[in-house]
Amino acid sequence: MRSQPVRNFRGGYGYMTIRVDQLIRAIGTALDIIESGMFGVRTNHGKRVAVLCAAMGRTLGMNESAVAALSTCALFHDSALTEYMLYLTEQDGKAGLFLHCIYGQRNVDLLPLPGDTDGVVLYHHERADGTGAFGRREGNFPVGAALIAAADTLDLNFPLQSVSGKYLEKLRAHIASEAGKAFTRDAVEAALNVLDEDMLEQLRDEHIRETSEKLIPPWFAGMEDTAAFRLAALAARIIDYKSTFTRQHSMQIANRAWLMAGYCNYTPEGRAQLYLAAALHDLGKLATPLHILEKPGALTTEEFDIIKDHARGTHELLSTVGGMDDICRWASEHHEKLDGKGYPFGRGADDLDYNSRLLCCLDIYQGVCESRPYHPSRGHRETMEILLGMADKGLVDADIARDLDQCMGSWSERCLPPPPQAAEAVDAVLGGLPHPLPDQRAR
Ligand SMILES: [Fe+2]
Ligand SMILES: [Fe+2]
Ligand SMILES: [Fe+2]
Ligand SMILES: [Fe+2]
Repeated sequence: MRSQPVRNFRGGYGYMTIRVDQLIRAIGTALDIIESGMFGVRTNHGKRVAVLCAAMGRTLGMNESAVAALSTCALFHDSALTEYMLYLTEQDGKAGLFLHCIYGQRNVDLLPLPGDTDGVVLYHHERADGTGAFGRREGNFPVGAALIAAADTLDLNFPLQSVSGKYLEKLRAHIASEAGKAFTRDAVEAALNVLDEDMLEQLRDEHIRETSEKLIPPWFAGMEDTAAFRLAALAARIIDYKSTFTRQHSMQIANRAWLMAGYCNYTPEGRAQLYLAAALHDLGKLATPLHILEKPGALTTEEFDIIKDHARGTHELLSTVGGMDDICRWASEHHEKLDGKGYPFGRGADDLDYNSRLLCCLDIYQGVCESRPYHPSRGHRETMEILLGMADKGLVDADIARDLDQCMGSWSERCLPPPPQAAEAVDAVLGGLPHPLPDQRAR
């Protein structure tokens, strides 16, 4: 038996580690892209809020673990936004405000963060004077939530990524004038401590990525750690909830990959890697416009090119994460075909290894099973006929297709078991809708 992987927020190494903080940032980047696409929010919003919170937390004396936890909460403060958007299309907008706070908190609760994050996302729309989302007053919600609320409001109301030095005094005066009103006194003190010309420079779009790498503490986790599994499951949920038609797509593919890796006797570590690749394979889809994802009928060539970009997007995002080179390759090759005519790279049989071929087959299998605007859902037999037909044409691996036939045939859609490390995250996904509402507003 080998020893347990080591998790270390300050840079220790275990048996095959990944940079969880970099994965969190990659998911955050994807979230920033949808947020600016859907709501017109400024580019890199989440990253700027996280950087400001890390700096403000430090100035208030938080230790590095607390800063790591706070900056993750800040990056994910609007992570329930795909769920929220879906809900808004079905219900009224006011409920959506509460819900993205509640579900955003549930999302960060799934991660084994190194500091206390109780209520930090839940109360990110509170105001010191008690006129915020849940009506909590200063002192009745956590300092971390107050810092996110201040950074969030400032980034929404001021173009922090381009504010020039001469407006700095105006900005600082505004912050000071909101003490006890919009912002808590702690948040005002912290914001005034950190917002200087140098910080404004670091918040600019061209520097923000570098700044976030510098200011947000590194977090390493073993491949089989709960952190890696839950983060992948959480990302899968955010991706899946982007469109009504894909509500369980990534999650189901991840569970199928987990099953297949067990069927093929992978090592625990190899199984974990495949699960992560499967859960994250469509990460780049967060940048694909919804009207194209949900278009009924045939796509134009331009629209299809935009769809195809999602696989390249997955590559761009995951290639920034240390320890995930193989995972990045498998995930971004899920639309490659053995004849070299797939995308995004046009790689063929000589380049595609077993896991890339498997993810391609699983993506097709799951896609055919799902109901889409252009086709109804299909059962196992009909799905396999389509997949085996593609194998006959030399597009996908025939042995893998036959293995899938064996392995998947005995599992119905509903009882695909997730890996134990991700079970809680998956339960939260399945319990995601319908949304409960807070019974009463706390004062
Ligand atoms: Fe929010
Ligand atoms: Fe925000
Ligand atoms: Fe895809
Ligand atoms: Fe997919």
